[in-house]
Amino acid sequence: MSENKQKFDTLKIRAGYDPKEHNYAVSVPIYQTASYDLGSTQRADRIVSYREDGWLYTRINNPTVDVLEKRVAALDDAPAALALSSGMAAITYTLFALTEGGGRILTSPYLYGGSFDSYKSILPRFGINFDFSKNIENIKELEKEIKPDTKAIFVESISNPNGALADIPVLAELAHKHNIPLIVDNTVATPYLFNPFKHGADIVIYSATKALSGHGNVIAGLIVDGGKFKWNKEKFPQFHKKHYTLRDEEGNSRSYLDVFGDTAFIGKARMDYLNYFGSALSPFDAYLVLIGIETLSERIEKHVANTKKILEYLEKSPHIKKIHHPTLQSSPYNELSKKYFPKGAGSILSFEIKGGKERGQKFIDALEIFTYLANLGDAKSLVIDPFKVTHGELTDDDLELAKIPLNLIRLSVGLEDARDLIADLEQAFEKTADYK
Ligand SMILES: Cc1ncc(COP(=O)(O)O)c(C=O)c1O
Repeated sequence: MSENKQKFDTLKIRAGYDPKEHNYAVSVPIYQTASYDLGSTQRADRIVSYREDGWLYTRINNPTVDVLEKRVAALDDAPAALALSSGMAAITYTLFALTEGGGRILTSPYLYGGSFDSYKSILPRFGINFDFSKNIENIKELEKEIKPDTKAIFVESISNPNGALADIPVLAELAHKHNIPLIVDNTVATPYLFNPFKHGADIVIYSATKALSGHGNVIAGLIVDGGKFKWNKEKFPQFHKKHYTLRDEEGNSRSYLDVFGDTAFIGKARMDYLNYFGSALSPFDAYLVLIGIETLSERIEKHVANTKKILEYLEKSPHIKKIHHPTLQSSPYNELSKKYFPKGAGSILSFEIKGGKERGQKFIDALEIFTYLANLGDAKSLVIDPFKVTHGELTDDDLELAKIPLNLIRLSVGLEDARDLIADLEQAFEKTADYK
């Protein structure tokens, strides 16, 4: 049976790997090598002119990392992926590859804090400017914010920390009307809960540090290319320009589109950005992500089930002003959640605690099971105060725009027994009940 007929749970364990090609090892081997014997000068000629797929140097490609790239691409039913040493590297290389020569990105204020701050403070120094639109949910108004040099729309499918859902098909239609791609950070959802490509996205990004690997033991990222976007010459000349580094056997320069065709974006991200900026994922870390992915569906189902139980408990709690999770009736994203997330909308939830920031801080200190740290999607349940840590770079005005008040507590619900997690929350509420 060909691989593309297989189901998600088969692909997550087997895609991109054939034991026969690896000494019949059933567990993906860790190819701990910096470089590869080129064999002969003739073979080297074929490899450098892209006539033969071959291993060159682990900064560019590696057989263990390659399995991870193929596996994640298969889970998203996409033709190609590129693994990098962090989610931030995946975001940065994507934006560099898209905006060479400068340009604007239309985005939402509902983003991971690191992305928000990079977009506000760092990437503009490189000629990449961002419009944090308040109209991300109002397409007619949003369209007015597309400028001649806007090169893409960027959103998180489920936002961190507030669980805002982006209406991907609507955003994709708008982007395509203006000949620009839609980039979706699908970290919180994972390929198990949502496939952005099925809804029109062009490039998908993962921080594999989160639920994709799922055990809080690795920093990793991926860019996935849907392979369908038509890179028009006027806005994206970088895919059409001939490069000597892409020369054929006769020494003729070629473009990324000539060499990589539909996956020109991943080709460019690998050969220009990974190659020369160098944020390579180590084979061992790729192996850890692969092991994590083997149980992705099972873990996410329990994450979702535990989240449901905790939401039911929190909804009745007298200690809370407001809860944010797209599956709640009270959420403005409830309809989108039913439409696009039938298997659940992730295990990140946030709530505004009564008693303000001061109580929030005491509440975190009073928790005994939830671990206080900056990560999400771990098997362990986690808690964080976004204003201070994950979104600590945001000014007061930015926090207001991003809808992150100082009494907001974010939980990443893990895989422990939900009864213990609820008991832990309850005792921390009780211990801090004097703050009103
Ligand atoms: C939604 C989202 N995207 C990207 C990142 C960055 O990923 P990494 O920490 O792997 O660089 C994070 C990290 O928290 C995130 O939450």
